[in-house]
Amino acid sequence: MATGEHESDVVIVGAGCFGLSTAYHLLKRGYTKVTVLDRSPVLPAPEAASTDINKIVRSSYADIFYSKFTREALVEWKNTSEWEHCYHESGVLVLLTGEGSYGDLAFENDRALGVRTAHLPAGSTTLVPSDPSSPRLSSVVQNLLKDKSGYINQDAGWVHSSRAVELLLDKVKKLGGTIVPGKTVARLSKDSSGKTAGVKCADGSEYIAECVVLAAGAWTASAFPELKLEESCVATAQVVGKIQLTPEEGEAYRSNPVYLDLDSGFYMFPPNDENIVKCAIHAAGFTHRPDPTSASTPVFPISSSHSDDKDTSKGHFETAVPKAALEELRTGLTSTFPALANKPWAGTRMCWYTDSADEDWVIGFHPRDAGVVLATAGSGHALKFLPIIGRLMADAIEGKMPEELVKRFAFDRAQNDVPVSRPGKQQRKLNLDDLVTTD
Ligand SMILES: Cc1cc2nc3c(=O)[nH]c(=O)nc-3n(C[C@H](O)[C@H](O)[C@H](O)COP(=O)(O)OP(=O)(O)OC[C@H]3O[C@@H](n4cnc5c(N)ncnc54)[C@H](O)[C@@H]3O)c2cc1C
Ligand SMILES: *[C@@H]1O[C@H](CO)[C@@H](O)[C@H](O)[C@H]1NC(C)=O
Repeated sequence: MATGEHESDVVIVGAGCFGLSTAYHLLKRGYTKVTVLDRSPVLPAPEAASTDINKIVRSSYADIFYSKFTREALVEWKNTSEWEHCYHESGVLVLLTGEGSYGDLAFENDRALGVRTAHLPAGSTTLVPSDPSSPRLSSVVQNLLKDKSGYINQDAGWVHSSRAVELLLDKVKKLGGTIVPGKTVARLSKDSSGKTAGVKCADGSEYIAECVVLAAGAWTASAFPELKLEESCVATAQVVGKIQLTPEEGEAYRSNPVYLDLDSGFYMFPPNDENIVKCAIHAAGFTHRPDPTSASTPVFPISSSHSDDKDTSKGHFETAVPKAALEELRTGLTSTFPALANKPWAGTRMCWYTDSADEDWVIGFHPRDAGVVLATAGSGHALKFLPIIGRLMADAIEGKMPEELVKRFAFDRAQNDVPVSRPGKQQRKLNLDDLVTTD
């Protein structure tokens, strides 16, 4: 082996949800030489989608495959000897917006799987509307249901995702995996037959492996243009806002479920232990192609005013966001949580989804390169599967993935005929001259 080369069974590019979970499951299956490279000098990587103060864990999917998969993930999240108290079972209030709507289909799936649910017609004041002696809904929730109906999925909530990533980094190290921060993978290296046999890094170092797993999140398509992933793994910027509650407000919102309106896309978390609430709109997001002649070269603009706030342990990492999106967030907040409508933003961020058109992930060998396994296209909903999603990648690597899943997750598939959570929503172009941190 030439100097500077490192040899592994598997090299994984990216230490986010997909990459770390892959490493973890391979190591648990007895692989000994697993190396994870991440370009960020600090892990969890401040810009990674996986790094955040909270992410929703809901089995409430219109596609029962993910409802069932969430139920499996929940068994793991609830194991506090593995995941401490990352998971908070606050419940998730899903709006019901009409027969055939995403929320209504999700309700059917939750009930079919025996999930604890409480159906709340418009005007509900108690958890069991027919029983006035059942627990009273908080005034905040009553207000949400003033003229809307919904259901609470009580076997659901949120996870402190940055903490969960930290725990997984530790697990991977304890199982003998190698994690190398500050390593930007610049390109794939090929053997004489043209098959990928490792990666070359920006600093000139090379990592040799039987198999290279690409789990670089929103950066995957632009980092490896020769793989032509730009259609199936589109980097879209999503806008997030945080609000600091007073201790009194914190108490008033403490017992709330996560609020999720899949019609408008607006959602908000209950306060975390610092009394911060986060809201966002699950939508098509913004794309950025600095060079319109190249199909997709996303960049990740960071605002200078907030970019030194890199306290990743808390998931605090701030960037400027499109002004229009921040206004939409304010509008969503005003119509759902009017008491918070005039509070200033305590932080804003552009967080990058990696989207497929059908919201199914892209997992499996590249059809034209037996040395590359793709593990991406989280499509805005993968973090809840952090403890178990790596099973799929390990199965793919070992050739054990059931045929139907091989087809479902293939990057060159025709769009799967599955219900999507953002039907008909159009991506917008990011205008770098229109980014703000307050409204
Ligand atoms: C605003 C927002 C809200 C979300 N809400 C939810 C939710 O409520 N529930 C849920 O389940 N999911 C949610 N998600 C989705 C979830 O966060 C993602 O699906 C998941 O985190 C994606 O993980 P990843 O590993 O693909 O990417 P990332 O976490 O972004 O990790 C990619 C890693 O690759 C590294 N990298 C990039 N390029 C290179 C390179 N060239 N060399 C080496 N390393 C590189 C990066 O530094 C990064 O660490 C949300 C996402 C966002 C953005
Ligand atoms: C929790 O995790 C521990 C350690 O891996 C394991 O031994 C135990 O069986 C798990 N508990 C449950 C309830 O799954």
